[in-house]
Amino acid sequence: MVKKSSLLLLLSFLSLFSSLAWAEAGEKPLQGKVINVIGDSYVRNHRRPFTEAWHYKVAERLGLTYNNYGRNGGCIAFDRSREGFGKSILQRFREMTDTADYVLVIAGHNDADKIKGSADSLAMFRDSLDALCQGLLTKYPRAKVAFVTPWAVPRPGFAEVIQTILEVCAAHGIPVLNAAATSGINVADEGFRKRYFQAPHDTAHLNAAGHDLLVSWGERFLLELNANSQGFIRGLKDAYQDYFLVGVAVNQRNIRVPEQQALICREFNSITAENDMKPQPIEPEEGQFNWQNSDRIADFCRAHGIRLRGHCLVWHNQIGKWMYLDKKGRPVSKKVLLRRIRRHIQAIVSRYKDVVYCWDVVNEAITDDPRAENPYRLSKLYEIAGDDFIREAFRAARKADPKALLFYNDYNECDPVKSRRIAEVVRSMKADGVPIDGIGMQGHYNIYGPKPEEVNAALELYRSVVSHIHVTELDVRANREMGGQLQFSHSGEGMSPELIARQQQQYANLFRVFRKHADVIDCVTFWNLSDRDSWLGADNYPLLFDKNYAPKASYFTVLDGPKTDQTAVTLPAKRENLHVYLCFGQSNMEGAARPEPQDLEGVSNRFLLLSAVDDAERGRVQGEWTRAVPPLCRPNTGLTPVDYFGRRLTEVLPDSISVGVVHVAIGGIHIEGFMSDSIGNYVQHRAPDWMKNILKAYDNNPYERLLSMARIAQQSGVIKGILMHQGESNTGDPTWAAKVKVVYERLLSDLQLRAEDVPLLVGEVVQADGQGVCIRANKQIDALPETIPTAHVVSSEGCTNGPDRLHFDAAGYRELGCRYAETMLPLLR
Ligand code: G3I
Repeated sequence: MVKKSSLLLLLSFLSLFSSLAWAEAGEKPLQGKVINVIGDSYVRNHRRPFTEAWHYKVAERLGLTYNNYGRNGGCIAFDRSREGFGKSILQRFREMTDTADYVLVIAGHNDADKIKGSADSLAMFRDSLDALCQGLLTKYPRAKVAFVTPWAVPRPGFAEVIQTILEVCAAHGIPVLNAAATSGINVADEGFRKRYFQAPHDTAHLNAAGHDLLVSWGERFLLELNANSQGFIRGLKDAYQDYFLVGVAVNQRNIRVPEQQALICREFNSITAENDMKPQPIEPEEGQFNWQNSDRIADFCRAHGIRLRGHCLVWHNQIGKWMYLDKKGRPVSKKVLLRRIRRHIQAIVSRYKDVVYCWDVVNEAITDDPRAENPYRLSKLYEIAGDDFIREAFRAARKADPKALLFYNDYNECDPVKSRRIAEVVRSMKADGVPIDGIGMQGHYNIYGPKPEEVNAALELYRSVVSHIHVTELDVRANREMGGQLQFSHSGEGMSPELIARQQQQYANLFRVFRKHADVIDCVTFWNLSDRDSWLGADNYPLLFDKNYAPKASYFTVLDGPKTDQTAVTLPAKRENLHVYLCFGQSNMEGAARPEPQDLEGVSNRFLLLSAVDDAERGRVQGEWTRAVPPLCRPNTGLTPVDYFGRRLTEVLPDSISVGVVHVAIGGIHIEGFMSDSIGNYVQHRAPDWMKNILKAYDNNPYERLLSMARIAQQSGVIKGILMHQGESNTGDPTWAAKVKVVYERLLSDLQLRAEDVPLLVGEVVQADGQGVCIRANKQIDALPETIPTAHVVSSEGCTNGPDRLHFDAAGYRELGCRYAETMLPLLR
């Protein structure tokens, strides 16, 4: 088995190889360019020369001229001159050379220690950081400015500082290398600190070996910055440039306030007037037009090269009564109504022909009543003209601007009854020659629904009728209501972490479905710029920017959405070529070691995971296959034996064979937690409080989750084995083997499997040269084949472990995983 030292050798070889390409050619890709690196001791490198630092070595490798402006003890926001640590970076950044191609700011850990839990200090930090970003962009208008956050340190202030850097930099469109999320630096691990930091208790200053770990990570970031020459100002519109336009509905304040203007220009390439281009606001009385507000929006679009969606020409709401009533308040004749509609449309459409690329011609004309015979909303317009007001409106719009795409727009458009009615009305009108080009799905959703499959079904239906679909008014409120009606409730104070995660998940699901239909979806528009502007009120939290216009967690979920598409997998055509393994257990199956860069790279696309839980950040959906890149278990879990089990099998088995895993594990759980007859009692009476939240992720029944996912997996593959790593919590329990037998045999019978076809592989616990905390459990594990003849024990002899002598470390998991594979291979023949 590959030892850790040779693995690190492998790592440096891999990253070296990637740079050899241009190194062999003798040129360095950024030769002649200059990089200014400013920061604290992450930059000065504390007691070691900064030539050992990763940012210096990366500059060397890329051919950059390197200027170091590090200052030990320095802060972004706080002046520490009196303590001998000098002025803040905000005070001294102007001292850097005026010319640079790259400016890297690596700082924040001293700020974190200054801020701790103080809200005032954090606010001061945010303002200083904001000023620093503005200052750097002004000083270096053409350079690529970027920040590197501190890595995760379990001390107060660090999470806040890292989140603030991410938020403030995003607001200025400055890329950030999130060391806490991607560097693999594991401050909490004593062994790691001993190996990679300048002193055992040091959490800030890497030694030379520690810096070497970050060279390929840092190099990739700088090369990406370079690749994104225009992508410096990265926003939603850039992330979705290969899919569809990303739009926003605006009010007058949004196009007047500079920060909001900047936000719009950075993130969006389509705009809709929330209210100012509607019938009544534009023509409150017949022939009296208020062009002021709508002109301002049109001019803003012209000035910034942003496309304008016209909303809306005919609607039963926000329409002047003059349109359908005579001077005495009586309904006008059909002829008069249709003439007034034509004139209104002619006037507004011809005025904005140069900037409007599509119109919501008719809005919300279909009834919400599922039992109604008549599919139409019985509005004043319908009462007078029947559905001819719709036909006439589209004909008038086409006549006024033959180029603009014309949409029928409505809400609750994923409701099965209403969607069928919308599709039927549009289909029959198109059949009658009414020029309807597209259907607008308003998208007023919530964090609970609609489900991705419901949205997908509606899209499948609409794309069978039209070739253009726009999501026109997207928002995801934090309660169970949805739709465009004005009657709605408020969700009240604050979004709990659970609700934030639900919103992230819903946005991830929606955008995955939208990307899937990007061939017919031309534009996805958010209905308002921020929670503060939302028609639903800020306390329904429906959008990607909060009431301070700062990006919320869901913003990054949507922004990174396209990246997750790469996780899309191809299943083998033949079911028997997908070998499926069910994996369950406690913390050493859950994975207690942070994956290192090498564990995140080179995962074969023949190694697949059927997600047992949703994971927004990675675009994973429960019950769907994805690439088996760690973490396999749940968000925020670590490397497990299964990671290298799958890698090893895909290395050895023929290319025609793919390996799929289903993974359900909970730290600390007893075997009883997987027994359906005792899970109820277990959750209620035995599970410690900290485990209850995790159990909830499996609806308090991990066995049922494992089973239901296994059944889905059986639709595409054949179950070849069951991997278990459990026993620490049942150390010394004489009934343990019998209980494992119950779980194993229950799985076999529930899935109609035979023991001889589906062996049980069980790993030993941490030995730590005999000092393993639960080493006694290995006695009952080694004896398991006496109770279950088709059980096979996987030795943990020599597998390295973390300081707690209970959990394996990354190298230990890699080794154990390969041993699971070596145990399985002969059983496959
Ligand atoms: O302009 C008047 C102002 O002069 C007056 O002082 C103020 C006091 O009430 O009202 C202002 O008008 C408000 C208008 O928004 C402009 O702010 C109306 O009361 C208010 O009802 C109107 O709400 C708009 C609503 O449509 C009207 O139905 C929302 O902002 C707008 O977001 C919403 O958007 C609709 C889409 O057009 C169609 N789909 C559903 C969506 C949400 O209902």
